[in-house]
Amino acid sequence: TEEKNLLLGGLLYPKETHSVESLKFAREFKVKDDDILAVTYPKSGTIWMQEILPLVLNGGDLTPINTIPNWDRVPWLEEKRLEQIVDQLKSPRALVTHFPFNLMPPSFHTSKAKVIYVMRNPKDILVSSYYFHQMATFLDDPGTFDEFIDKFLEGRVLFGKWTDHVKSWRRAKLGDRIMFITYEDMVQDLPASIRRISDFLCCNLSEEVIQNIAKCCSFKKMKTNPLSNFSLVSKEYMNNDKSPFLRKGTTGDWKNHFDSQQLTRFESVIHKELEGEDFSLPWSL
Ligand code: PPS
Repeated sequence: TEEKNLLLGGLLYPKETHSVESLKFAREFKVKDDDILAVTYPKSGTIWMQEILPLVLNGGDLTPINTIPNWDRVPWLEEKRLEQIVDQLKSPRALVTHFPFNLMPPSFHTSKAKVIYVMRNPKDILVSSYYFHQMATFLDDPGTFDEFIDKFLEGRVLFGKWTDHVKSWRRAKLGDRIMFITYEDMVQDLPASIRRISDFLCCNLSEEVIQNIAKCCSFKKMKTNPLSNFSLVSKEYMNNDKSPFLRKGTTGDWKNHFDSQQLTRFESVIHKELEGEDFSLPWSL
């Protein structure tokens, strides 16, 4: 863990993409009023938002997704790359972040920047992450699936516990500035989800444009877009042959991985940690 990850303020970050400096840069980042932040716990739909947001913000114009790699199109707030490309971003800027609420830069709190928080069933997050740790050589070997469940439940994974992340953003009183959407909503009805996002961002898109955006952001389309599927990254870092970044793109793959004991263990921990919260989960755990 010590070797590939950076431990800072109790959270783990991959050293390949994050550094003490990049985290400092993120904390000092000047958020603008018209910035849009898509917030996700890892494996909840981040790169999907990197596809959707530029299309929504540009009225369906394909130029961004056909000319700019996702990591520069909608950069990660906390990654090293941001400092190098921040000056090239055009307003309204869209960024993604895996930060829990308490790590957001002070300028975010005084800004009017909007947040789209994407949630995903934690069982599917765990499965997705398990495969990602096998294909990304800059991440720790996940061990057995059973071991990885323990790591996940104990928060010995990148960006800490899923429950802490969700609670932090659910408890943040951001009023109209935040919208919650689930990965499951997006899989079930992508056009309706894009409509919600577009309305939230006051983009006023026609039904035709919404339908077109949905087509461009499908799993299939993204999987063949070299600027979105991470095929530009050297195999040394991400072995897409082992398990592609755009792996399955479905809901409920956990059913193919958890046995009944693992399910009981998982559910009891998550339930306990969310006890007393004034929000309910959109899935029956
Ligand atoms: S990361 O590493 O945190 O940025 O990963 P993230 O992008 O959050 O999550 C990766 C999972 O999102 C799936 N994905 C999609 N599913 C459906 N449709 C589209 N268009 C799409 N784009 C990305 C991706 O396949 C990963 O999930 P799994 O379950 O592993 O397939």
